[in-house]
Amino acid sequence: MAENRTGTSLFSPFKMGKFSLSHRVVLAPMTRCRALNGIPGDAVAEYYTQRSTPGGFLITEGTLISPSAPGFPHVPGIYSDAQVEAWKKVVDAVHAKGSVLFCQLWHVGRASHQVYQPGGVPPISSTNKPISNRWRILMPDGTYGIYPAPRALKTSEILEVVEHYRQASLNAIRAGFDGVEIHGAHGYLIDQFLKKGINDRADEYGGSIENRCRFMMQVIQAVVSGVGADRVAFRMSPAIDHLDATDSDPIQLRPFSDRENEQTPAAGGLETRVPACHSATLYSFWPNRVTQNWHRRRRGPDD
Ligand SMILES: Cc1cc2nc3c(=O)[nH]c(=O)nc-3n(C[C@H](O)[C@H](O)[C@H](O)COP(=O)(O)O)c2cc1C
Repeated sequence: MAENRTGTSLFSPFKMGKFSLSHRVVLAPMTRCRALNGIPGDAVAEYYTQRSTPGGFLITEGTLISPSAPGFPHVPGIYSDAQVEAWKKVVDAVHAKGSVLFCQLWHVGRASHQVYQPGGVPPISSTNKPISNRWRILMPDGTYGIYPAPRALKTSEILEVVEHYRQASLNAIRAGFDGVEIHGAHGYLIDQFLKKGINDRADEYGGSIENRCRFMMQVIQAVVSGVGADRVAFRMSPAIDHLDATDSDPIQLRPFSDRENEQTPAAGGLETRVPACHSATLYSFWPNRVTQNWHRRRRGPDD
């Protein structure tokens, strides 16, 4: 049986906040593009139940918090009643097999295209700068396109997006999920605020580390206020440059990566705790061997 240097087995029980897991093999969130028109159906239920075990822990694929959130075809949402109803069947099936299931809350920000946006408008972001043509976007017809220029959110619009995260978390609990994981990683919307290489704002959401963390902290606080801290996880990837999400000082961006229940030093007085679990991928090797081919397809020829 696999043991780490502390002698803990991968198959030994683990207390994750209020959840008692019977082993430590976790399903990572993975976009599957199987939820036709944003509604998770039978194929999604089958996928998650296949991976469920008694006392296991699964995190769903990135799940859209609002109509402006998508950047891939057929990704499920959690913002409409129809989506909540559809998720109930998936969650019930996973619970029947004994696993704990968190819903990953996702907004891709500028990693989108007009074809995915209501009314064909440009995607939103922290910036007007597009993702470079080193990267390609998967289009609805299966071809790969160039990322278009996004529209930087006005300061006055940001709290509306924060509210979408809160409402999505409430919807997730209504659908029966045990908790939510906020996707703050991999160059998507929250990371577009965090990273110096993207965020070029002159308002209170740009510049200093406190300002660049402000949107993330507001989202966490809103979600925690909605569903309770013991149901909230946060994923970040300070050192990963996916979709041009670079930062010259990624270590500064590691507010949650050391200890659970740590007060967030970068939060500039915003005292939010994220106790249930976290999955900071500071030293993740993503893309790893498994994901290399997927990345190769998404990258442009000049990479
Ligand atoms: C096809 C594919 C889709 C993915 N979708 C998501 C996603 O929706 N949300 C997310 O946080 N990570 C996503 N990831 C990253 C995985 O969760 C995971 O981090 C990655 O496969 C590498 O595993 P590792 O972190 O254990 O090295 C995806 C990875 C792949 C290959």
